[in-house]
Parts: sequence; C-alpha cells; structure tokens
Amino acid sequence: MKKLFLLMLILGIGCTPKDPQVMHSSNNNPYAKKVDSLLALMTLEEKIGQMNQYNGFWDVTGPSPNEGDAAKKYDNLRKGWVGSMLNVRGVAEVRKVQKIAVEESRLGIPLIFGYDVIHGYKTISPIPLAETASWDLEAIQNSAQVAATEAAAAGINWTFAPMVDVTRDARWGRVMEGAGEDPYLGSLVAKARVKGFQGDDLSATNTIAACAKHFAGYGFSEAGKDYNTVDIGTNTLYNMVFPPFEACVEADVKTFMNSFNQLNGVPATGNLFLQRDILKELWDFQGFVVSDWGSIGEMISHGFASDGSEAARLAVLAGSDMDMESYLYIKHLKDLVDSKAVSESLIDDAVRRILLVKYELGLFEDPYRYCDEVLEATVIDSKAHHETVLDMAKKSIVLLKNDRQMLPLAKDGQKIALIGALAADKDSPLGSWRIAGEANTAVSVLEGLQVYTGNKLTYAKGADVTVGETSFVMESKINTSDTSGFAEAIKAARNADKVVLVLGENGFQTGEGRSRTRLDLPGVQQQLLEAVFNVNPNVILVLNNGRPLAIPWAAEHIPAIVEAWQLGSEAGHAIAQVLYGDYNPSGKLPMSFPRNVGQVPIYYNHQMTGRNTEPVPGLVFWTHYSDEANTPLFPFGHGLSYTTFEYSPITLLDDFASKGSITLQTTVTNIGNYDGKEIVQLYIHDLFGSVARPVKELKGMQLIALPKGVSKTVTFQLTHKELGYYTNEGKWLVEKGAFDFYVGGSSATTNKITYELK
Ligand code: NOJ
Repeated sequence: MKKLFLLMLILGIGCTPKDPQVMHSSNNNPYAKKVDSLLALMTLEEKIGQMNQYNGFWDVTGPSPNEGDAAKKYDNLRKGWVGSMLNVRGVAEVRKVQKIAVEESRLGIPLIFGYDVIHGYKTISPIPLAETASWDLEAIQNSAQVAATEAAAAGINWTFAPMVDVTRDARWGRVMEGAGEDPYLGSLVAKARVKGFQGDDLSATNTIAACAKHFAGYGFSEAGKDYNTVDIGTNTLYNMVFPPFEACVEADVKTFMNSFNQLNGVPATGNLFLQRDILKELWDFQGFVVSDWGSIGEMISHGFASDGSEAARLAVLAGSDMDMESYLYIKHLKDLVDSKAVSESLIDDAVRRILLVKYELGLFEDPYRYCDEVLEATVIDSKAHHETVLDMAKKSIVLLKNDRQMLPLAKDGQKIALIGALAADKDSPLGSWRIAGEANTAVSVLEGLQVYTGNKLTYAKGADVTVGETSFVMESKINTSDTSGFAEAIKAARNADKVVLVLGENGFQTGEGRSRTRLDLPGVQQQLLEAVFNVNPNVILVLNNGRPLAIPWAAEHIPAIVEAWQLGSEAGHAIAQVLYGDYNPSGKLPMSFPRNVGQVPIYYNHQMTGRNTEPVPGLVFWTHYSDEANTPLFPFGHGLSYTTFEYSPITLLDDFASKGSITLQTTVTNIGNYDGKEIVQLYIHDLFGSVARPVKELKGMQLIALPKGVSKTVTFQLTHKELGYYTNEGKWLVEKGAFDFYVGGSSATTNKITYELK
C-alpha cells in the first residue's frame, strides 16, 4: 500500500492536496531577518497583495481578463495589493507605476517588473533554439547578458526566461523558445542563460532575475498542440524533463514558472508533487514560483477545480507563490485563510520568497534602481550589443548539406540570383518574442548580400510565405497560393551562376499558440523551389524557420542547404558572412529533422524495442513504417563545416577504481582546406538496465577550433554522474555492466568502444 501511494505521488495522480508542511527555510539568506521584520508588519491583505501579479496597461501576452481595468489596478496598487507587474517597460512607465506602489501604499513595498525577455530586449538575438545550435555556452551567456543589460536599462527586473522545456515535437510552436530535444545539452544551455541574465550580482543594474519555465512537462504537449494534455511516465519525467530545471536550481535561478498543462491528470499549477515535493523540498529551491498567465483560473476549465476559490486553494497548497493574471489570490485567499481552508504559514512562506528576491535585486535599497534615463538612452541598441548578437547569429547557423562544394560562394565575377520573400524580410528574423524589437529592423539577407559587391546580385520575390497581417497577438494567416511571381524568379535563376533561395516560415508562424500539423514549406514555396531548380540546379537553399522542417525533396535534390533559423537583428549579415565563407559554420542541430510529419516525435535518444530496427527479409514483423524510413532526415547533432574533420578510433583509460572516472580520448584532425570549429560529441549507451536505457545519450561535448591540417586530442571523463540514471522511483542509479561509448560529430556517429563497468 505504501509503495502504491509513493508511486501515485511520483506520477502526480490521485493526490488530493492536503495542507502541506512548509519545509523550506531561508534563514541562511542575508536578507532573511529583514524579510521577517517586514512580514511582521504586514496585514494579511498586504501579504496576499505580494502574491498578486497584474499585467500592465499596454502590451498583452495572453488572453485579456475581464477585470483588468486600469482604474482598479491603480487602486489596488495604492492598497498594497499588487506585488508585481508584467508587461510594463521603459523607465518612464516603470517609474510611474513604481511610484504609486512605493509612495502611495502603506508599507511602500516596491514592485518587481517582469517581462518576456526571451532572446533580446531591443537588440534581438537568434531564437533560443538557434542559439542552442551553436553549442557555444559562452556565446549563449553573452547573448543573455546583452538581453539583461538592455531590459534592466528599461526598468525591467525579471525575465520569464529561460524556457527549459525539453521537447521532441516540431509541431509545437514553442520549440523555437527552448533548447531542443536533449536534456544534457538543455541543462548546459539553461545554466548559461541563467548566468547570463543574473550575473554574479543580482542587484547590479545590468542583471535581472531569471525564471525557469514551464514546470513541468509542457514540451510534451500531446500532438504538439499548445496547452494540450501531457501524459508521460516517470522514466521520461525524471531523465528527460527534470534535468534542465534542476540545472537551473543549481545555477541559483531566482524564480520558476509553472505550466498550463496537466501532468498525468493534475494541472502543473496545482501539482503539489512538482512544486513542493520535487522543487522546494528535494531540490531545496529558495526562490518563488509564479503561475503562468491565468493558469490558476484555467484549473477550472481543466476540470480540476470547481470554482475560483477552489482553484486558489489548490494552487497555493501546491506551492504556486504568485498569481499571474487570474485575480484569484487577491479575490479568495483572505477568505480561505479566515475560514482555515488555507494556513497563513503558506502565505508567509510565499511572501517571504517573493520579498527575498526583491531584496536581492536591490529594490528595497532603491526602488528606482533600474530607472535611469541616461542608461536607458545609451545602453539599449548599442553597437557593442549588435556585435554580440551578430557573433551569436553566425555561431547559430547549421550547414546541413554542401555537395559539389557549392559553398562558400566566390566573391567576384558571379551572377547570383536571390529568391524568396523571406530574403527581403526585415521582420521575420526577429521571431515572435521580440518585445521592444521594432518591426522591420532586422538586417535582411538581401541587405547582407549587398555588402559583397564583387558579384552581380538580382533579387526576385517568387512567392509570399503568408498573406495578411501577422503580429504578436494575432493568428498567423493562411499561406498564400499566389504563383504570379514565379516567372520573374525563374528568369532570374536562369540567368544566374548560382541561386540563393531563402524559404521557410514567417517569424510569427512559430511561438506560443502557433502549433502546426504540417512541417513542410508553407504555401507554394515547395513549388517555387522545384521550379527554380528545374532551370538552374546550382541552388543554395537557406532556411529561415523556428522549428525543424520536413524537407525530403530538398534534401535529395538541392546541393547546399543552410539552416539559418530566425537569427535576430543581425540575421542578414550573419547569413551573408557564412555564404561567402568569411565565417565557417560550426552549428549542430539541437533537434532531429523528420522526413515527414508522420515520424514525429522523432528523437535520437529513444528506447530500443523488442524487435529489429533493420529489415527482416520477407517479414513485416520489425519496428518500422511501411512507407517511411526509421531514421530522421538530419539527426540531432548533425552539422557540416566547409572543412572536414576526421575522428580517430577511441582509446580508453580505465581508472575507475582509482579515480572514479573513465577517460576517453579521440584525435580529431582537420583534413580539409579551411580552418574550422567542430563540436565533438560524446554519447553513451548503457546496454542493459533495470530500467532500459536509450540507444544513445549525450554526456559530453567540446567545442574545438582547428586550423587546417592540425590535429587535436580531445579528452572526456566519465563519472557516476554521466553513467547513471533516475529510476522510476526517482533514485539515481549506476549499474554495473556493458556500456558503449561513442565520440563523433553527430548523434549518428558509429565511432564506438565498448566498456564493462565492474
Ligand atoms: C504565457 C507563456 O506561456 C509564458 O511563457 C509567458 O512568460 C507568459 N505568458 C507571460 O507573457
């Protein structure tokens, strides 16, 4: 019986939240005493006010609630019934709202201002999925730091990032916002982002609090449909979903956001197992948890809470400390405490967590700390920031295919046709989370290529990707079927030595609420591609997209394919520098690209089945589709360079008994004609486990720079940390027995050595 209860708890099923004990103690925090003294002065209403977060008066990033009128919000600010605002930005606006809280409320507790600073504030970096493709943690940290510096200069103290949801479903619109399908890479990237946002001193005026989101399981929304149900087992939960979140706690992230989705029948927002047992108790997280937009109220629609009061009770019991835009804490918590349905100690715990972060941000010392007009005018959109995001953009590009050495382009004497609406698009590279990034301010591919004047460049649109308006709050519109621009494009292609075709998705076709059932090129772009190829096979396809696309025809016919994502403010310069060879690409895919949407979810670290994955002659009884291969079009970790890297066989030094580690070595040699960088990847396969292990798991990576003709020996250490896994009971386990270790340039590497762990 006890075992059954434990299992139910782990699965998040069947637990009726009871009044939980507050396990956490923040006494080691230098501000703990101050917080306690302040808490002692606060009325219950004022405490609950700290747990209430309102949207601002201008931007919205969710469905607008009925009761969000400005007059009421201002009134509640004066009463001390608001702890935080989101979507208020710019020193003048922040100052105006902060002034009311600080100067007109009884205790003058400063507000914390949150915003979705996902990949830049005004100077926009590549989308996070693209940044992850760099595997360059230093560059990723720098990019987050630029975002934090600009946001802090605009009065913001808190970003709702990083999104660390591991995901395997390219249909889900939010794949652009995360780090892809792998928990190991996802954890490294999560740490880099938290460090970049928060720096070493949270009270500095160029750092902001980060937020690990969405806890938990959101990336596994069924069928990739946003907000959909999540139903996953413990093996996936512990080994795939949790690691990047735990990494954020290790990196001292200050806040967490819970999630819209149910996890095995229990909404994440009301999930006591997730927020209390795992996050606050097991991982000893000291910060606070904010709900997602309206997610406390949405527990009614989920069929979990019968009304607003019940939703507020379940959320607070489960450990959701702040209510974003449900208005239910402010409405019901006082009655719930008065009627003893909720213990005041839970309120105190939540408020303590929130106040601590405000102290750490330096807001009590100076509530206008982030309100410096001079800084705002000088720091935002600076030249230095554009240099950083350009560097990040180049590093994010992945060369998927380069037959016949189509790339790099020669710089002189060539006729180049540039085709595609996205080639001249100055908006799509900014993606759908651009905050203060102004529409149409990205460098387009056309502008980037125009910098190189030695060739004759001709541009033709060919076809639109979308028609009608697309914007942050509106649905992306139906794809166009207009082919009237084809003739001009075909003419340009016919007269050119080489064709650069820029195809993919509009910047608003990925992001929140932007899931798709199809992963091919939207609209008539596939027809355009084929029509152009028919008259000139020397095509370089540049993809601009926020998710993996299924492009099997292109992969078979087009000689060169460059994955250029949505690369932010400097997109066009980055792409041009790569096409012309001024930057040798080194990115590697953070998600598998399917051959067609029917393979989704497709991911490299899958389990074995009981059946063969290679054909059994004459029989159908093997693991396969009858109409498609098992393998992806491009695997996780894949990415080429203009040069070629050769890997030596792996050598292994077993010093496990003496040092507790295994040392692996491979020599990588640049055998091509260009200097280049390679991301050396280490995978393991634990051949037999009490819980069967995936066919490959990334457990190490190194980014090395190699001049042409030069070799380098790369060394990896494997310890218990890399060799173990979480059991279905959430215990870390390292099992003796055989392991395969692989080192190579992608997850498809066959360069392996077998080892027996004794
Ligand atoms: C809903 C999104 O899921 C979340 O990621 C975001 O931070 C909030 N809206 C606030 O905009």
